[in-house]
Amino acid sequence: MLMKEIEKIELDLLLECIFLRYGYDFRQYARASMRRRVQEFLERRNHSKISELIPLLLYDETFFQDLVHHFSITVTEMFRDPDFFHAFRQKIVPILQKQPFIKLWHAGCATGEEIYSVAIVLFEENLANKTITFATDFNNRALHQAKEAIYELGLIKKFTKNYQDSGGKGFFSDYYSAQYESVILKHHLKDNITFAHHNLANDGVFGEMNLIICRNVMIYFDKNLQERVFRIFDESLAKGGILCLGSRESLQFSGLEDKYEAIDEKQKIFRKR
Ligand SMILES: C[S@@+](CC[C@H](N)C(=O)[O-])C[C@H]1O[C@@H](n2cnc3c(N)ncnc32)[C@H](O)[C@@H]1O
Repeated sequence: MLMKEIEKIELDLLLECIFLRYGYDFRQYARASMRRRVQEFLERRNHSKISELIPLLLYDETFFQDLVHHFSITVTEMFRDPDFFHAFRQKIVPILQKQPFIKLWHAGCATGEEIYSVAIVLFEENLANKTITFATDFNNRALHQAKEAIYELGLIKKFTKNYQDSGGKGFFSDYYSAQYESVILKHHLKDNITFAHHNLANDGVFGEMNLIICRNVMIYFDKNLQERVFRIFDESLAKGGILCLGSRESLQFSGLEDKYEAIDEKQKIFRKR
């Protein structure tokens, strides 16, 4: 048997072990990217074989949390893809303005930068008071940071530029206070946001929503898992509800194409018919 084939068995066993022991299902993540992440983890921890991780995972929960943290790519920033936030103001806000209240599910919120960007737009468009937001992720460490809303001072230059490029109506500096090497976002941005653990691979719907934002999360999933998540989103969205995906994600081949119209094809904004 080739080494490559043995490694494939080891990876299958590792993912099965994680699922059986902790209930986290990585078996339907895109294999090439999982293989890369596991390889990096092995090198970082000075292990040579994937199977060496299995006993450690079985008996050491902290080790598992470290691995999940490594598997979950939390790259994000405030007003990431300013054109998306520009489209949000131009095309989503007018729809939301007509609704009596807004229930928003932000899935895969990572360390919170994206949902606080949305909170700023909602605040500037006088929609914050009628919005309830659920921001979810399966990475508990990222969720903890999201709740704290404290970011490195060095990131602010980029965040400010993104905010301006996205059509921000005020001054970005109105939304944070600086302390030493960190910035703390203003408390009012957290009002009405509930951060919660939710695993898109295992958990179910989150109640009826008017808006779901899930960007740059499903690129890591294989087709089956993507279909599962699309089904959950479709079950959650009210008629006329809006779904926002990342620039490299698509409703094509999701089985939902006919049920949704594109409000902005380029920015991946769709509306349930
Ligand atoms: C690249 S970040 C995207 C953050 C943000 N949405 C953005 O676009 O800037 C991907 C996030 O998806 C989360 N994620 C990955 N698999 C998940 C799953 N099965 N359930 C919930 N969140 C998941 C990761 O923990 C990570 O925080």
